[in-house]
Amino acid sequence: MLTAITRAVSPAIADCLLTYMDREPIDAHKAATQHEAYCALLKELGVSVVCLPADPECPDSVFVEDIAVVADEVAVLARMHDPARAPEVEKIAETIGGYRPLERIEEPGTLEGGDVIRVGRTFFVGLSTRTNAEGAHQLKAILEPHGYQVKTVAVTGCLHLSTGASHVGDGLMLVNPNWVDSTAFTRCEYPALRVLNVPDDEPWAANTMLVRDTVVMPAGFPKTCAMLERHDRTVRTVDISELMKAEAGLTCMRKLFEADTAAARKLAEAQAPTARA
Ligand code: GLY
Repeated sequence: MLTAITRAVSPAIADCLLTYMDREPIDAHKAATQHEAYCALLKELGVSVVCLPADPECPDSVFVEDIAVVADEVAVLARMHDPARAPEVEKIAETIGGYRPLERIEEPGTLEGGDVIRVGRTFFVGLSTRTNAEGAHQLKAILEPHGYQVKTVAVTGCLHLSTGASHVGDGLMLVNPNWVDSTAFTRCEYPALRVLNVPDDEPWAANTMLVRDTVVMPAGFPKTCAMLERHDRTVRTVDISELMKAEAGLTCMRKLFEADTAAARKLAEAQAPTARA
């Protein structure tokens, strides 16, 4: 079952971290309403949504994507660049641990899930202000034994790799070339990826969310929508304009993975004696 872990918007979201955008007032109520519509769209697209309660102590906690990398066999807990976001990792560890055995990125590595894009058996890791080479190296050491390849991508001028790139299906990457060095995608031996650049006047359109065959886009980027439709994509839009003031992208607000409920139950049972010890 395709499952999304989400967390309701913190009432303190106006105090979020910012890396490349100027601070603007954020209406937390409006952000929460947009987040509800986002979760409703996920459900409409057939995703089982597990929504965790809002956390007033962690302004950025709606951005659950950053907290872990989930592969089929294992989940890797992030090590956040900014200590202000570190508590978010411990607060979600138990939930993620219900679905996968857990590994961790350790000091001096930093790695945030927003810097990681999976395409097939390849994980692309953005080297950004949030994720360092040591973090990428540790992720590679954890995932390669499971048969994945891990490739790094240079990211400049935006928050995360996902801010400037996304997979829109069938090996087609949507990229903002001013923020992301797309040669990492085109040089990848397998799978062979193609790159489509967003128009210069729609820089935030490169963050889309693929849910099975549907590409979900943030509202307000008509040229990119039309371009994707010309490439035979089914496109849906959702308004996240208030959340974008906190540097949100669509992918930042959910941890999306296939949850094998039987395996998750077995894992929970196996972990129970340790938890009680
Ligand atoms: N506001 C999102 C982040 O900086 O992590």
